Amino acid sequence: MGQNQNIVWHDTTIKKEERQKRNGHKSCILWFTGLSGAGKSTLANALEQQLFRQGKASYILDGDNVRHGLNKGLGFSDEDRKENIRRIGEVAKLFVDAGTVVCTAFISPFKEDRDRVRELVEEGEFIEVYVRCSLEACEQRDPKGLYKKARAGEIPSFTGISSPYEEPESPELIIDSDKLSVEESIETIITYLKENEIL
Ligand code: PPS
Repeated sequence: MGQNQNIVWHDTTIKKEERQKRNGHKSCILWFTGLSGAGKSTLANALEQQLFRQGKASYILDGDNVRHGLNKGLGFSDEDRKENIRRIGEVAKLFVDAGTVVCTAFISPFKEDRDRVRELVEEGEFIEVYVRCSLEACEQRDPKGLYKKARAGEIPSFTGISSPYEEPESPELIIDSDKLSVEESIETIITYLKENEIL
């Protein structure tokens, strides 16, 4: 017997479309993915600042922060990362339903997990943004000193060193964070959102 057998889905009275109409724009997930130190959080924050200033309904879900609360207790094994991304996907879907542009900043190293999130929402609502940066450049930046620790064997299963990162095959956007400035990157994303009639 399934444990969900006594749980019934309730349709809400206010629909996503009504929320979007009131907000004056569509909702979507901007899914930033890339190596640690590639610049996911920096870009997501800079973008959200701009969206917020323009009066858009936006929010950020960030790896380090979410792992302090909702996903506290999950580690970095393949299984835990999968569960991490599954939960974030569900939360991001709720934000889309709430009429929000939600920026998520997670390494999300596995293609299958990212694709599963894409399937949770409607066509066009999942925008995969590959924050591309070579391992060498990330390692040189090493903003949190984690690569150094990983190389010293102090962090097991570290993405790019001892755990894989599967590059997106056909992301909606690629941001080469070692070539573009933050301003140029944000401009590229905003242009995409306008061209696709989200904003
Ligand atoms: S994942 O793979 O999507 O579940 O990871 P995420 O939730 O985005 O968490 C990544 C941040 O956790 C820190 N950290 C690690 N990253 C990769 N591998 C290992 N083993 C690890 N241990 C801790 C690191 O600060 C990541 O943050 P970012 O912002 O990506 O640098």
